[in-house]
Amino acid sequence: MPGLTIGDTLPDLELETTHGKLQLHDFVANNSNSFTIIFSHPGDFTPVCTTELGMMAAYADKFAERGVQLLGLSADDVQSHKEWIKDIEAYNKGHRVNYPIAADPTRRIIKQLNMVDPDEKDSSGQQTPSRALHIVGADKKIKLSFLYPASTGRNMDEVLRVVDSLQKAAQHKIATPANWKPGDPVVISPTVTNQEAKHMFPQGYQTAQLPSNKDYLRFTNISP
Ligand code: BEZ
Repeated sequence: MPGLTIGDTLPDLELETTHGKLQLHDFVANNSNSFTIIFSHPGDFTPVCTTELGMMAAYADKFAERGVQLLGLSADDVQSHKEWIKDIEAYNKGHRVNYPIAADPTRRIIKQLNMVDPDEKDSSGQQTPSRALHIVGADKKIKLSFLYPASTGRNMDEVLRVVDSLQKAAQHKIATPANWKPGDPVVISPTVTNQEAKHMFPQGYQTAQLPSNKDYLRFTNISP
């Protein structure tokens, strides 16, 4: 995924959205305690996108509980988005699309946000957005990115899971292992010595016994 990626600062773009104009840096920085998720879609009135935007609406309360705000993007213009929202809400059992959806008819935005699908063009030969998703901190830096092709809809449980992982890792000196879900043990960061770990994790920790005899794989429990 060349271009904008983890650790980079989001460009300060002016966006036309279904909620009016917004300035990207202000929007992201206003959510001072948590993340903004910016997620792109190839186009309005397309099948997978209709299910994805509806599922985001269905999960909006779960993101709000975590302090996360949402910003969708689809290539077509704002008027088209407003018409399309009626379909999204009808198909997705009335879940309201309360988050803004940005427009990008000239593809100016997707190029700067590294959301272009290298393999897809629309009927007029223009580049289209991939299913890209950036999780951005209030410091305007990208914390995590996904890039899916148009044929693969995203799993919103996975988006929630990575938000939970990012939030836990920001609170404690831990990381989350493969297939982790909230409530499972976490691993202690390799930068924490065993001496420090005893103080940081008074609940204790277990060290995996490995052929190398190195003690780097240490599991502990933190509150869900
Ligand atoms: C879809 O949303 O279903 C879709 C959009 C563009 C290309 C392929 C699928």
